[in-house]
Amino acid sequence: MAKIWSERFEEGLNPFIERFNASISFDLLLLEEDLDGSIAHVQMLGKTGIITSQEAHQIEIGLETIRSEASKGIFKPDFLDEDVHTAVERRLTTLLGPLGKKLHTARSRNDQVGTDLRLWLRRRIDDLDIELEQLQLALLKKAENNLFTLIPGYTHLQRAQPLSLAHHLLAYIEMLDRDRSRLSDVRKRVDICPLGAAALAGTSLPIDRRITAKSLGFSNIYSNSLDAVSDRDFAVEFTAAASLIMVHLSRFADEIILWASEEFSFVTLTDRCSTGSSLMPQKKNPDVPELVRGKSGRVFGHLQGLLTMIKGLPMAYNKDFQEDKEAIFDTVKTTSDCLKAMSILIEEGLEFSIKSLSEAVESDFANATDVADYLVSKNIPFREAYQIVGRIVRVCLDKKILLKDLTLNQWKDIHSVFEQDIYEKLIPSNIVAARISEGGTGFKRVQEELKKWRNQLISPNQ
Ligand code: ARG
Repeated sequence: MAKIWSERFEEGLNPFIERFNASISFDLLLLEEDLDGSIAHVQMLGKTGIITSQEAHQIEIGLETIRSEASKGIFKPDFLDEDVHTAVERRLTTLLGPLGKKLHTARSRNDQVGTDLRLWLRRRIDDLDIELEQLQLALLKKAENNLFTLIPGYTHLQRAQPLSLAHHLLAYIEMLDRDRSRLSDVRKRVDICPLGAAALAGTSLPIDRRITAKSLGFSNIYSNSLDAVSDRDFAVEFTAAASLIMVHLSRFADEIILWASEEFSFVTLTDRCSTGSSLMPQKKNPDVPELVRGKSGRVFGHLQGLLTMIKGLPMAYNKDFQEDKEAIFDTVKTTSDCLKAMSILIEEGLEFSIKSLSEAVESDFANATDVADYLVSKNIPFREAYQIVGRIVRVCLDKKILLKDLTLNQWKDIHSVFEQDIYEKLIPSNIVAARISEGGTGFKRVQEELKKWRNQLISPNQ
């Protein structure tokens, strides 16, 4: 197959180099956007009189023919086409004859690929936003059903204070919301059109960049043609935002893995979302959260890969940029798959074991802070109260009992201010209810938060 540059070259490419150079094996994913971009471009060429409106119309029909051929599986470029852009141009020329050769007027693949990629990513960011919202909704429903379910809260992975399980789940809804706002911020910088920058310097033909940008729905155009064809900041920003999504999913996945262990036993995994072992008959493995945790690594890798790929490049376009696509494509696929898998896991994969959770919150010293607060309410300075409770905990540990097992006389031996009402302060649900500070786990506060999120996430038609 003759190359687009065949007149300038005497010899064909080495066959290995031909494959090495080609991106068609992965950039065919941009076909829809490539056709959209070309249609907008050719319409603009018609409107500005660079080609006739009749020619523009025929080229547009040719491009739509390629779209329908692709949907029927008839359009099958191979690696000799090099990339999606040359594949479309070749097919168009086969369909229309010499007229097809007018498509690439006043354009370069450099501004074209940048346009395609931004169009594609803008759509995928919108999809990811919906997937993030769905995960938030799945979490919200679980949270609403578990306002009064208690779970030990940890710091340093040591039992700290009991929590409402809803409060714990709402923490992830907050993280995912920051993820959504980060994506919408990245989207603003994806939403700028490089088309018309041509190879690097603009063009002498009387194009109108505003027309193409507007018909492709971009909110702005690049002001500098060099920047337009060599900016990949948006790709870095996007993979960074996706990396944080993966960090959040991975942290939650890790908690689920811990909770599903026999040591914690806070959740059981349903058969629909767990797997067995090939050797050990008793096992039920948390493959889904493990894969989510594991896949975070490749997204972080793409971020690092892109940064490194870009950092030494002179102006303007360099072929190195061809490497951006697989990083972006895989980041989108991995993040999207993990969001969907986590939603399914939350909706139908997790059963919280209320019995183990309540046993857990009843059987530790997570109520010690509340004894100190009790002393503070009796006018004992906090630091002193803290020391007194430290002594009480040591006594209990020696006796192998819990705070609630101490008799009133034993309490009074420690400090005369203790009265019968100390016992109700030790009850986990009272402890949680008492955390009424703003943002705290007190049931009333959590209930308000659940309401807030319900209003925010559930639109009237849901
Ligand atoms: N396949 C190329 C890429 O992905 C398209 C742009 C090629 N431009 C060029 N001047 N060779 O970046």
